[in-house]
Amino acid sequence: MIIEQKINVPFEFPVVFTDDIFAPENRALVDAIDRLQEQRKHRAVVFLDQNVERQHAQIRDKIESYFAAHKDRIELATRIQTVPGGERAKNSIVLNLEWCEDMLKWRLDRHSFVIIVGGGAVLDAIGFSASLVHRGLRLVRIPTTVLAQNDGGVGVKTGINVRGIKNAYGTFAPPFAVINDFQFLLTLDDREWRSGIAEAFKVAMIRDAAFFEFLLKNAAKFRKRNETAMRHLVQRCAALHLDHIRTGGDPFEMGRARPLDFGHWSAHKLESMSRFAISHGDAVAMGILIDTAYAVECGWLRNDDVLALHEALKSAGFPLWFDELDHGDIFDGLREFQEHLGGELTITFPSQIGARREVHEIDIAMMQSAMAKLKMLAHA
Ligand SMILES: NC(=O)c1ccc[n+]([C@@H]2O[C@H](COP(=O)([O-])OP(=O)(O)OC[C@H]3O[C@@H](n4cnc5c(N)ncnc54)[C@H](O)[C@@H]3O)[C@@H](O)[C@H]2O)c1
Ligand SMILES: [Zn+2]
Repeated sequence: MIIEQKINVPFEFPVVFTDDIFAPENRALVDAIDRLQEQRKHRAVVFLDQNVERQHAQIRDKIESYFAAHKDRIELATRIQTVPGGERAKNSIVLNLEWCEDMLKWRLDRHSFVIIVGGGAVLDAIGFSASLVHRGLRLVRIPTTVLAQNDGGVGVKTGINVRGIKNAYGTFAPPFAVINDFQFLLTLDDREWRSGIAEAFKVAMIRDAAFFEFLLKNAAKFRKRNETAMRHLVQRCAALHLDHIRTGGDPFEMGRARPLDFGHWSAHKLESMSRFAISHGDAVAMGILIDTAYAVECGWLRNDDVLALHEALKSAGFPLWFDELDHGDIFDGLREFQEHLGGELTITFPSQIGARREVHEIDIAMMQSAMAKLKMLAHA
């Protein structure tokens, strides 16, 4: 006998854009936590990225005052927890197990909240622990970098690095809510500020030609840290990522394609070849440039498209060549990309600006020729 089983589980979560999230009169956080109107007080723990704490001197007091101002709806189960910022948070499963045990110790249950204030790495690391305890606590993400606000933080994944493999362990765990506060972005250094800009170019090129035009036109403004332009970039990019996860038909990535990883096969390799001295954003900018140049070689895009992208990334402040690319090792990135996903090699390229195609074979000679042209362009 075979009983065919099929389960559909809807996930709903708001992604809110606001300013000054912990001002007592700002209801974004308390309303997000209370959005199911469960008529009770909610218990929460707050994990805070160490570097956010450093840059925002009053933040602990502000969070505590916020909880005090809304004490009819929310309460802190313990004091605010500071965690290492950046990739360090993702590099030790021992830390994850400690956080899990802490969550048990504080008697968090499946209706309690884990609130994370931090960059994408801290969101991934604490999110991973929170998704394990009691098979998943309610997670509220408050991303504090451009990349986390417009890409990683609005998605449905968690992850940590094991044996040097990025995101080797992780879970699919949609959050309860995401709240993006633009004010956090003002304390990022230039490198972190531009990191998420590469992801905006990435998603625009395969999904939204009008947004791509906007990015080309405003590239120099991003470098000058123009806030109006950046707000639009973050919101549109987040909306496109959310749209893709909602409508792309494969939110938990069971299939073999990962369209949002356009440009990422070489980006991931570049990051690891540089021992992570090259940031994810800088690597992605280079990665989409390489795959765009390849798309030109294949006749899918016009030469003007790669020139326009090159010019815009330059204006936005991205490095346009890395010596690591002179080593053949970069092509190992194709195999590693395939291994992480499983199944046949599938790489997404723009088929024209704003649309995409999937490719199962890469002509290495053509890729080398595309890269040689980029190298010349970068040194012109
Ligand atoms: N889960 C996903 O779907 C997904 C998607 C994309 C990326 N990611 C992951 O996200 C991570 C990268 O995230 P990121 O780009 O946000 O970098 P990050 O989390 O490494 O943060 C970069 C640095 O900025 C600091 N920082 C954070 N907010 C700050 C602020 N407001 N002011 C000053 N400093 C601040 C951090 O402490 C860190 O030192 C990677 O580990 C990547 O794998 C996950
Ligand atoms: Zn990325």
